[in-house]
Amino acid sequence: MRIAVGPASRRLGEKIAKNLGLMEVYVEFKEFPDGETYLRVGEIEPSEDILLVQSMAPPQARNLMVLVQMISAIRDCTAGKIVAVVPYLAFARQDKAFLKCEAVSAKVTAKVIEANDVDTLLIVEPHSDESFSWFTRKVLPIDPLQDLASFLRNSRETKTVIAPDKGRIREASVLAEMLGTSYGWVEKERDRRTGELVSKIGQLPVNTGSALLFDDLISTGGTIANAARLLKAQGIESIEVATVHGLFVQEGDVKIFQSGVSSIYAADTIEGKYTAYSVARSVSQAVEKLSHGL
Ligand code: R5P
Repeated sequence: MRIAVGPASRRLGEKIAKNLGLMEVYVEFKEFPDGETYLRVGEIEPSEDILLVQSMAPPQARNLMVLVQMISAIRDCTAGKIVAVVPYLAFARQDKAFLKCEAVSAKVTAKVIEANDVDTLLIVEPHSDESFSWFTRKVLPIDPLQDLASFLRNSRETKTVIAPDKGRIREASVLAEMLGTSYGWVEKERDRRTGELVSKIGQLPVNTGSALLFDDLISTGGTIANAARLLKAQGIESIEVATVHGLFVQEGDVKIFQSGVSSIYAADTIEGKYTAYSVARSVSQAVEKLSHGL
């Protein structure tokens, strides 16, 4: 097996290649003046198995196209197995029709990816079970909490882990257990039409002096900023933030710091300013497990 690394996942792809001792397939990528993307892969043997890595980081639709171009170019060269690692699966939050006649973007994304004959998908923190239920091929979610816990253990004091909405209570409790600390949560409601957020304290352990807010992804920063303000109002002095997918659109990072947060740690599923830990180990372990069955 060799690895093809897409332009949105260069650093992560190289780490996975190194962990697994895989040689890279050459990937030529360019953008035409009008924004259309071009992709070509170097020579591949007719029955070679290929692992590819390409995130759907912003710009999401463009990087979905690049992912699909990679799968298609590789499939045209080999009848072997294609395993695609998708470090960030965009459009996952629209995993059902919340309002009548909405496009179910997660379903559309799954169909587009699978139309190009990929055998297996490994998706890091796919947001919800529903988001990857739309895939019909073999799809394995990768839980990156172990990677985050290792990073936090190495560099941080123990803090209470807080979920900024009920949807993340499971992750907060698992992370807290890994770190040997307590957990709590904030409750959030979002108006589906206006997008407006209202948050209130759900449950906090007594004597919470410092907190680590964890969310699967941060987009505009509104969810985290609201939660941080509530924690501050409860007298919690020190608040840090950890996430997997850090998008930070509309100056979401500024909003978060203004709410009283001191540090933000994100994974390399989206490579950016706050990337502090890597999911390479979890992805590599998943590929190793999978390759025993290939
Ligand atoms: C929602 O269910 C997600 O888990 C995140 O909490 C949300 O998407 C974060 O968005 P924002 O940063 O714009 O509040």
